[in-house]
Amino acid sequence: MYTIGVDMTTVSRIKKSMENPRFAPFVFGEKERELFCAQNPKYHSLAANFAAKEAFAKALGSGVRGFGLNEVEVLRDDMGAPYFVFSGKALEIVLSGRYTAQVSLSHEGDTAIAMVLLEKGMGIKKL
Ligand SMILES: CC(C)(COP(=O)(O)OP(=O)(O)OC[C@H]1O[C@@H](n2cnc3c(N)ncnc32)[C@H](O)[C@@H]1OP(=O)(O)O)[C@@H](O)C(=O)NCCC(=O)NCCS
Repeated sequence: MYTIGVDMTTVSRIKKSMENPRFAPFVFGEKERELFCAQNPKYHSLAANFAAKEAFAKALGSGVRGFGLNEVEVLRDDMGAPYFVFSGKALEIVLSGRYTAQVSLSHEGDTAIAMVLLEKGMGIKKL
């Protein structure tokens, strides 16, 4: 079964939130912080990643419940394409539902958007 989720946010909202030192570790995983929060934070990518986490939660149908946003990391492959890396409770949810998740991101001006396609029952049982 396929489900989808979409979410949008503003880059300025994420930039403002980043002024609170508790925001980044609460929302972004270690690898995401390494890639996007270093000396010159990539706010457009961070905003798109944030949208991807909420879009994932919508595709699950649960909203952001039972897992941490920082357990749903959105990284980039060698070609620049985004992909999810799950850990903790989010990983448990993905493994127990045997989900595979695809994500697409876009940003233009102050707006960032993400779309997630989730397929239940098709993912690997164990990593
Ligand atoms: C569901 C959630 C991701 C929505 O995101 P949001 O940025 O607040 O709101 P958006 O405008 O992007 O989306 C709203 C739409 O999401 C959809 N939505 C709401 N709950 C949903 C769910 N459980 N699954 C899928 N979609 C849902 C609805 O269509 C809603 O539109 P509507 O009010 O017209 O029906 C978010 O509110 C959530 O996870 N809430 C529950 C837990 C929570 O509050 N956690 C806070 C952690 S930081």
